[in-house]
Amino acid sequence: MILLGIDTSCDDTGVGLVADGRVLVHRVASQTELHAGFGGVVPEYASREHTRVLDPLVAAVLEAAGLAPGDLDAVAATYGPGLVGPLLVGLSYAKGLALGLGVPFYGVHHLEAHLAAARPADGELRPPYLALLASGGHTHLFDVPEEGRYRLLGATRDDAAGEAFDKVARMLGLGYPGGPRIAELARRGDDRAVPFPLPLKGQAGYDFSFSGLKTAAARFLERGYPPEDLAASFERAVVESLVRTVVRAARDLGRARVVVAGGVAANARLRRRFAETGLALFFPPPDLATDNGAMVALAAWERIRRGQPASPWALEATPYAPLSHAQDVE
Ligand code: KG4
Ligand code: ZN
Repeated sequence: MILLGIDTSCDDTGVGLVADGRVLVHRVASQTELHAGFGGVVPEYASREHTRVLDPLVAAVLEAAGLAPGDLDAVAATYGPGLVGPLLVGLSYAKGLALGLGVPFYGVHHLEAHLAAARPADGELRPPYLALLASGGHTHLFDVPEEGRYRLLGATRDDAAGEAFDKVARMLGLGYPGGPRIAELARRGDDRAVPFPLPLKGQAGYDFSFSGLKTAAARFLERGYPPEDLAASFERAVVESLVRTVVRAARDLGRARVVVAGGVAANARLRRRFAETGLALFFPPPDLATDNGAMVALAAWERIRRGQPASPWALEATPYAPLSHAQDVE
């Protein structure tokens, strides 16, 4: 069964092909350059760029896999959350393609897609487990007592983890996206040199907070700490905060397995640190951690395997779509 997945939730056009739960080819067209001068993503420019590159990108991905549109068994696209214009481009395209080919269409929740990228295709991961989603827009910790059910344990009270990386990178003049650039600079730094506080230390719940680290970084920068030490110590602080909260939740709830997904799951220090915890960990391959189309197709594949129906053609782009409203959550 061959599925095409499309993600246009923000500023990257992602297209991927999945055959029976295995990724065949996936490509991401980045818009970083386009938005670089604006200090953020310009939604209208993002929509136009998705419109411009999506069709050729689909053609290129099909060609790289040696397939034709007629080989597709279903088409999937992110319906939310994200920027409404960009979402509309991918969603409309996917519906049109599916309708034209006479195959089902699956509208996928973006966070569900991130999680699907981290779940092994062989069904080796059985609930109950914890799921940490750390991206540019989200830092959510869920308990998954059974497949398809998500109980929110905690979330960020301010910035998302990836957003904090992006803001501190900007402060250091490193550009966007901040995560990989901070990680790169951090390799040359001393991760104990700058005394970052541990956010929400001593709290009873499972929330996160990263805006304090961002403020602290600005202060430490003013005091003249070297950028590489700042990067390393900041990265360590974010990772410690994520890992300790997850470990505490796992202990409290008696969970032994943890899925870590979203762009920040690409972080090597985070992976190393989690590996020390003794938890059974499920990470996406690094290239599927950040936004891409393959994860959308993987989420659709999970739904098909669970015997869940295709999405209605009337499914709309939903900028604020809570995970509890995901199509495949009862
Ligand atoms: O999941 P994603 O691609 O897009 C959203 O849905 O937000 O996540 C992007 C975020 C950015 O904030 C980026 O800085 C962060 O993930 N990120 C990283 C790394 N790679 C990407 N953060 C830390 N370390 C990385 N290696
Ligand atoms: Zn994402």
